[in-house]
Amino acid sequence: MTSKPARLRKAVLPVAGLGTRVLPGTKTTPKELLNVVDRPILSYIVEEAREAGIEHIVFVTGRSKGAIEDYFDHQIELEAQLEAKGKTAILEMMNAELAKAGEMSFTRQMQPKGLGHAVWCARDIIGHEPFAVMLPDVIVDGQPGALKQLVDAYEETGGNLIGVESVDIADAHKYGIVDPASREGNRITMKGMVEKPAPGTAPSNLSIAGRYILQPEIFDLLATQERGAGGEIQLTDAMDRLMHEQSFTAVEYAGVTHDCGDKIGLLRANVALALKRPDLGEAARKAISALL
Ligand code: G1P
Repeated sequence: MTSKPARLRKAVLPVAGLGTRVLPGTKTTPKELLNVVDRPILSYIVEEAREAGIEHIVFVTGRSKGAIEDYFDHQIELEAQLEAKGKTAILEMMNAELAKAGEMSFTRQMQPKGLGHAVWCARDIIGHEPFAVMLPDVIVDGQPGALKQLVDAYEETGGNLIGVESVDIADAHKYGIVDPASREGNRITMKGMVEKPAPGTAPSNLSIAGRYILQPEIFDLLATQERGAGGEIQLTDAMDRLMHEQSFTAVEYAGVTHDCGDKIGLLRANVALALKRPDLGEAARKAISALL
């Protein structure tokens, strides 16, 4: 890289998913608003985005996801009651999360055609600039956050990047998997990537973990995309094509990944993050130990 890459300002959060793995809890509550300890999954994701310098978040929503938009707005009655009761600490925490003027946009994916299609729905709001994609059911407990780690790498490499992590090879068919060519530290160049490889055919155990930095040319590829794994328009397939035209780096980030779209993943996230909390860790440890 000779010149500095264009600054990453925007992130797409595809939040149209139905949350079928954690029904019936997600029948009336978007899965992204399920609590992990005492705040919604989405609150952790937005915090990670802001830490990475993201200035504008594009939510790709769907039917019955209106509560997501409300979450980042004032709740006047509740705020007034908290104020009257002198509950200032929680009020301050809630205020810090509110969307700043013009910081968030909402668009809809009206049919569940896959992750690639969801990202494509954001094309006009993103325009012609690089952008991040953050899967909102994946909390990464990292220091700094996973997206910030990707941004730090992007400032050196430019182009496109994905966060990857090692998974049990027996689980590789659940993920997008990369075919690595060479590695330098935690940066990996790739020969290709494949979405949900059939069991026994995965080219590696490095999974695409839900954090991406992409160039806008991905939208042209998504527009002409045929349906892939599961009959859906897959982001992985479009990235596999883009990789042959532009720089593409996989970064094995440092941190613990929690898949909160899954019953056990959500439970594990709650336990892990409660144990780490200075105000709750001790009590959580006692309560959990008593159960075991
Ligand atoms: C999506 C992506 C996949 C990625 C996974 C991470 O799959 O398509 O490449 O590895 O998220 O959680 P999904 O879990 O939506 O089926």
